[in-house]
Parts: sequence; structure tokens; C-alpha cells
Amino acid sequence: MVLSKHGEREKRILSLFRIAVLISGSGSNLQAIIDFTENETVSNFEIALVVSSREGAYGLERAKKHGIKSAVIGKDNTDKLLEALSENNIDGIVLAGYLSILPPSVINAYENRIINIHPALLPQFGGMGFYGLKVHQAVLDSGVPYTGASVHIVDCGVDTGAVLIRGVIAVLPDDTAESLQKRVLGVEHTIIVLAVKALADGDTDKLKQKPLMLISDSDRKGVRTYAKEFKELGEKLIDADSEEL
Ligand code: GRF
Repeated sequence: MVLSKHGEREKRILSLFRIAVLISGSGSNLQAIIDFTENETVSNFEIALVVSSREGAYGLERAKKHGIKSAVIGKDNTDKLLEALSENNIDGIVLAGYLSILPPSVINAYENRIINIHPALLPQFGGMGFYGLKVHQAVLDSGVPYTGASVHIVDCGVDTGAVLIRGVIAVLPDDTAESLQKRVLGVEHTIIVLAVKALADGDTDKLKQKPLMLISDSDRKGVRTYAKEFKELGEKLIDADSEEL
């Protein structure tokens, strides 16, 4: 088949990786993904659907403002969720502040194609009960000198899937759970976009073997030392201002 120039372009556009972003609240990570797709001339994915587990989530407003299709699907309505994903030809799913556990039927249908963002350096401070400010308070109580965020593949456990990317920041002496939450969110907005791009590029297996570590506070010795330990474990370190991003 011979395609005209226009036809080739159409074909390329049609073949963008279609993601569904699942949210329950503010949706600032969703916004970071939207901003990327709107500001970058080349994106290998598009947001085809936003699903909120509850009415009134601010993320729904963000979707509306940017002309993105959205739906509210309660956490127990698995059939409706699977139907919406299939009707919208979804290739991959991004959990961005989605406060429900996906049932195995969804996880199996999209095996290795679902990612989640968590506001701590997994495997630390993850699992049941670690959400919102509780995570940051636990970090402060433990006295660790660094924290951050992780994007991982979703499997049937809670926060147990392979980590693809981590972003690290130092815990400062006067940090509160709220201040940590704010600074960690800043890191999240960078690594979520990197992870979605990797998912769309089919690079997740590569990242599972060698996760990325983004050092966003690289002048701090604690973070460097921490990052070095990961390097010894085979992780690839990149600076927050690296051209690789
Ligand atoms: C983020 O901290 C994310 O790590 C966690 O839920 C929060 C969602 O924030 N899973 P937002 O709705 O994207 O602003």
C-alpha cells in the first residue's frame, strides 16, 4: 500500500500509545503528563482517558479543561472499568493518586502495562497503610536522611512490583510531613513523565533490570551516598538537570 505524505502522518498519529490515567484526587501528576503532551512537539503517547474513582476529584476538572475524555467509575465496578479501557483502546494504565487496589482481572489484562507512582523510595515505606501524609510522617519518624518517589510496575501486591524509576531528595532538619510531601511531589512530576515515556517505548523490561535514579538534590552528600549504594546495585543514575531528561 502506498501512503501519501498526509497518510503517513495520520498513520503515525494513530499509532500513538494510548494511556488511561486513573486518579482519585488533585491530579497534579496527571497535570504533569498533560503538560508534557501539550508542550513537547514529539510525544510517543496520548492521554486517551482519565478515570476517577470518585466524583468531584479535581483531576476531573483538569481533564475537562484540556479536552480529555473522562469517566467516574467506582472502585468496585471492575466490569465497567474493563469496558471503558477496552472501548477506548487503552494500551497502558497510569495510576496517579488512585486510591483503590486494582483487581487481578485488570492487572492480568494489562500485565506489565500498568505503572503506579508512590511518594517514597520503594521498597521502603510502601504497602498497606502507606499513603498521603502517613508516608512522609513515617519517613520523618524513622530518621532516614533521604526520601523521594518511585514509579513501579503494578502487580497483584501493594507497591510490590518492580521499580522502574526513583527520584531522591534529602530530608532537611526542619522538614515536616507537609513540606516533604510538597518537595516529593515536585520530583514525582518529573519521574512520572519519564516513566510514561518508557512505558510507551516498551522500555519497562530494560528499566526493571536497571532502574533509573534521578538525583534532584545532588549537592547534598547524603543523597549522593545513598545514590552510590544503588549504583553498586546496577542502577543508572542521572542528574535532575541532565540532558537525558
Ligand atoms: C502522589 O503523592 C502519588 O505519589 C500518590 O498519590 C499522590 C497523588 O497526587 N500515589 P496528585 O493527585 O497527582 O496530586
